[in-house]
Amino acid sequence: PKVFYTQPDGQVRVVDGAVGDSVMSTAVRNGVNGIVGQCGGTLSCATCHVYLDPGELEYFAEPSEDEDEMLDCTASDREENSRLSCQLTLSDGVDLHVTIPDEQV
Ligand code: FES
Repeated sequence: PKVFYTQPDGQVRVVDGAVGDSVMSTAVRNGVNGIVGQCGGTLSCATCHVYLDPGELEYFAEPSEDEDEMLDCTASDREENSRLSCQLTLSDGVDLHVTIPDEQV
């Protein structure tokens, strides 16, 4: 599956991801700017915040209670389509589009 990362300035980077990896780890491994992933995916930071394409929210379960709490601690404003990208796991044949917020820390 591909992940389309849009920077705050509109620049798009497309990365080929692996099934089972997260949008966060895919970004970190490929040097995508703006996704920090400080805690390594254990829901104890909010530096992997992304805005998920609203049409793609349905591919995922609602945020867990822990994710929901951390989403209240993001550096950039939380929106309806805010998710923590370490919780977005890539599935076979499902391309994802995320926008990276202005600030992560
Ligand atoms: Fe820390 Fe996602 S990497 S919450």
